[in-house]
Amino acid sequence: MTEETPAQYAGPKRVLSGVQSSGALHLGNYLGALVKFTRLQHEMDTFIFVADLHSITAWQEPALLAAQTREIAAAYIAAGLDPKVATIFPQSAVPEHAELAWIFNCVARLGWLDRMTQFKEKSGQHKERSSVGLYTYPVLQAADILLYKATHVPVGEDQKQHLELTRDIAGKFNHDFDAPGFFPLPESLIQGPGARVMSLRDGLAKMSKSDPSDASRINLMDDADTIANKIKRAKTDPLPVPETVEGLEGRPEADNLVGIYAALTGATKAEVIAEFGGKGFGTLKPALAAVAVDKLGPVGGEMRRLMSDPTEIDSVLKAGAEKARAAAAPVLAETRKRVGFWGA
Ligand code: TYM
Repeated sequence: MTEETPAQYAGPKRVLSGVQSSGALHLGNYLGALVKFTRLQHEMDTFIFVADLHSITAWQEPALLAAQTREIAAAYIAAGLDPKVATIFPQSAVPEHAELAWIFNCVARLGWLDRMTQFKEKSGQHKERSSVGLYTYPVLQAADILLYKATHVPVGEDQKQHLELTRDIAGKFNHDFDAPGFFPLPESLIQGPGARVMSLRDGLAKMSKSDPSDASRINLMDDADTIANKIKRAKTDPLPVPETVEGLEGRPEADNLVGIYAALTGATKAEVIAEFGGKGFGTLKPALAAVAVDKLGPVGGEMRRLMSDPTEIDSVLKAGAEKARAAAAPVLAETRKRVGFWGA
């Protein structure tokens, strides 16, 4: 693998990230991704897309896919992304993603992809029945990022390995095509208590839209009663909230609830422990439910409003796609030239 220092890339800082349009968004997506997007849009040029090419690596009902894409865009806006500040677009509306992904398919090595843990998790027992797209999915992700020469990628912890692969692909391309510093080696922005939100039913499993139990996750569109009920029923152990952060070790459910409270309030786990340490979960849970309803209620409400009439979202996505294509085209043209394609 090629090592290159990020310092060799001299271009401007740029943020890029995305969420798949494959089902309802949950608290993990909100804390691991959406909250960071809204903060970063005021710090750097920000591109946030709906990863609908990624979502079809598993079967998506054609009649529902466009609505799912709009739903993610609605969540972005409802969570606070401002379309006048950030560029919001559907991945499939920018065909340059797929073209760069093909070039990167020829840069990435099979051995690199063989190590991807998310493919192993998602393909499960049925590897040979998985789509080829599911296997090369992280290569498309590298193309998403490098097509905009993004330098910063806010994601949850589960995407860390994909970001490392992106850096490897960027480094190998720059090396193979004698283009030092052409692509940046992007940094993942993962840190914070919301980087890995766990299931409410099992503190060792990630909160996920594919978990068959709806009680395992808080969906962004859940109403206040549902949110409060899910938190009330969340699994805990019989001990009180520990009095030190170290006391959370070996107590995954307690750690998760303290982490969620911290992430929702912008506090550290230590600050949450200072407030609730020594008290029972009968005290922490209602406080957490109140905070969750307070933060998520308006997001769900705004999503419902936006989705009741697609005109506004569609115009955001259309304008965003035009801006994205304008940013992507020169990078792809230069890449084609480096590769040596006829006419490039
Ligand atoms: P996706 O759609 O699975 O998830 C979207 C974002 O939510 C984060 N996330 C979580 N964070 C904390 N706790 C959880 N339980 C949790 N579950 C999900 C994910 O880490 C992610 O940030 N491959 C990506 C989409 C993608 C992408 C990209 C991201 C495609 N191209 C380029 C960044 C840059 C995915 O499937 O995310």
